[in-house]
Amino acid sequence: SAAEKDGFDWFMRKEIFEQPRAVADALLGRHTESGALQLDEVRISEQELRDIDKIIIVACGTSCYAAMVAKYAIEHWTRIPCEVELSHEFRYRDPILTRQTLVVAISQSGETADTLMAIRYAREQRSKVLAICNTNGSTIPRESDAVIYTHAGPEIGVASTKGFVTQLIACYLLGLYLAQVRGTKFGDEIAAVVDDLARMPEHVQAVLDRADEVYAIAAQHAATRSVLFLGRHAGFPIALEGALKLKELAYIHAEGFAAGELKHGPIALIEEGLPVFCVVPPRGRDELHQKMVSAIQEIRARGAHTIVLAEEGDESIAPYADVLIRLPRVPTLLQPVVAVVPLQLFACELATQMGHDVDQPRNLAKSVTVE
Ligand code: G6P
Repeated sequence: SAAEKDGFDWFMRKEIFEQPRAVADALLGRHTESGALQLDEVRISEQELRDIDKIIIVACGTSCYAAMVAKYAIEHWTRIPCEVELSHEFRYRDPILTRQTLVVAISQSGETADTLMAIRYAREQRSKVLAICNTNGSTIPRESDAVIYTHAGPEIGVASTKGFVTQLIACYLLGLYLAQVRGTKFGDEIAAVVDDLARMPEHVQAVLDRADEVYAIAAQHAATRSVLFLGRHAGFPIALEGALKLKELAYIHAEGFAAGELKHGPIALIEEGLPVFCVVPPRGRDELHQKMVSAIQEIRARGAHTIVLAEEGDESIAPYADVLIRLPRVPTLLQPVVAVVPLQLFACELATQMGHDVDQPRNLAKSVTVE
């Protein structure tokens, strides 16, 4: 009913707008006033955490894109090699697992059979398994050595939104916690990131406050048959997620690429009027930013209709943006939390305009409990 949806037309839209609260809840009680991590729920001893020599994150669908973002953050903060793998691929390729491997399973539902089988396999090989999960008492956390709950609240829409952003938060917390335990970052460096994280709810809110601008873009694209998404670094998984959302909800062809890969093939797809979303990294990472601007220039010269997501104050992209969506200024590694929001809004609105059932997309299930 409309009441359950707080007056929104879809659970998905309601859940998109719940994200500031969800992010705040995911952070709640997990750090001290002075910015030290307190993750008591990680019931793996500090000694065991210090002995880890490799992390493998397994997940499916949207959760796997959270894993890809996590890799950038965890490796940067901890210097532990971190691999990401789709759960169903992981299990059948004879992966190298030891007692020093930490396997992290990310699952909103905690019931995805592919991911469950992956962690069972990992535990048989004596690796430690840590779950990042939204559903209390579900199977994956029950079968793991430890769990970080994402505290997003129940997610009803089949396409994950608040589940995803809170997975990102949990991954950041895990990365910072490992850095703290292993001493790869100083306390004040960790506290600075915790401070940035604490501001994310207001940043997400700022993006939501401009939802109408995104809806207007969606209204112009109701007849679109294909959309591309470009990103780099932590923005690359967000490009993939933006494309997945369109496949799931609008049933149109959509693909995400790493911007650096364009010249190795995908640029051949660019034609007059093709909409391309471009996630521009913050200017703080100069080399990344500059390369993204060049990529946008190149596709625009070939006729692409560029819909550019760039931080407030970044004027360098203005000449190459047909449409500009502003993002709050946040560090590169945390940008996915704000950059994904306009892409969620776009997919939700486009599917609505096309007359599709946003909460129950065809052929999809909220959790896939068969392999
Ligand atoms: C299904 C859903 C996706 C979800 C994926 C992983 O395919 O339709 O939205 O991302 O499962 O789900 P999980 O609950 O393991 O995160």
